[in-house]
Amino acid sequence: MHCNKFERLVSALYRCTRSAVCGAARSGVCGAAVRGQRSVRLQRSAAVWSPCQTASCHFSTGASSKNTVDPDEVRRFQSLAGKWWDEQGEFAALHAMNDLRVPFIRDNLLNVHRARHPGKPLAGLRILDVGCGGGLLTEPLGRLGATVVGVDPVEDSIYTAQLHASYDPDVRDAVSYQACTLEELMTEGEEEQGAGQFDAVVASEVVEHLADLETFAFCCSHVLKPGGSLFITTINKTNLSYALGIVVAEQLLRIVPSGTHDWEKFISPEDLERLLESNGFSVQSVQGMLYNPVSGAWSWTNSTAINYALHAVKLSDDPQPGRAEESGPHPEHHGAATHS
Ligand SMILES: C[S@@+](CC[C@H](N)C(=O)[O-])C[C@H]1O[C@@H](n2cnc3c(N)ncnc32)[C@H](O)[C@@H]1O
Repeated sequence: MHCNKFERLVSALYRCTRSAVCGAARSGVCGAAVRGQRSVRLQRSAAVWSPCQTASCHFSTGASSKNTVDPDEVRRFQSLAGKWWDEQGEFAALHAMNDLRVPFIRDNLLNVHRARHPGKPLAGLRILDVGCGGGLLTEPLGRLGATVVGVDPVEDSIYTAQLHASYDPDVRDAVSYQACTLEELMTEGEEEQGAGQFDAVVASEVVEHLADLETFAFCCSHVLKPGGSLFITTINKTNLSYALGIVVAEQLLRIVPSGTHDWEKFISPEDLERLLESNGFSVQSVQGMLYNPVSGAWSWTNSTAINYALHAVKLSDDPQPGRAEESGPHPEHHGAATHS
């Protein structure tokens, strides 16, 4: 029931946003649910995103003025923005991944923060979900009691996320969404959600879609409190990940829409660890994940050759950008630590 109702609303929303009177419609019924969130910098067309229209990244610490957006990626996710909550559709594997990533995030946070509210173990924690898409991970984290801010540059994905959350009383007060990138968020409200405001940052299946990982790592560190956690899930850069992640998953089985991934943008756990450590993080664990296309289920595995989850902790205040070159030999990779 809920699902059908939601799908009808999403398709109505899409008819609305794609119509020639889109601008007018958005200030009416269609826009009502999201109007409050769209006050900043959302005048840009989501259909063809232009980096020129974003605020530049005025990092006070002087990291760079780069941004993380690859316009082709944004265009690709724009075309899928109405499909996030179809559990059998293009994002089925992401729905299933919640079985691993939600407990991974919850348990690692509970190692540091004592649960104070029965049934809401993450109550009192503020989490930023970067590249939240339709809110598939944002919502369960909100249901666990955290206050979660989801950001994504694809405006229509944010509409979908907001609309979906608005129908669930358990999550609608816990989650909020903004159509922007992390670097935009960082420059927008220093007092509210700028430096050191979050207990955790989550970027699940996102880093392989970014144009600039160095900027991303810097921004993650900037918005986290010292001691805060960064959770990343992504795809390793191996021959196996090319064969299974692109050839099998995209081209043969079509579990993921064709063209979703660019192998060149994949990153090994070792390189990601090096990047994070040069931005003030200490990597705590790296664990392999395996998707079974027959059962549609994920499981933990000792091998990080295809997918992996990483947990890192921000050591202190903002890093000095570019410390990577000075940081000496790369520490030994953790391998697939046992999931706690
Ligand atoms: C594979 S989806 C993952 C969505 C969500 N994290 C999940 O797991 O359900 C990748 C998401 O990254 C978003 N994305 C692409 N470029 C981005 C950027 N520069 N900053 C933040 N998000 C971005 C896309 O719009 C898309 O929603």
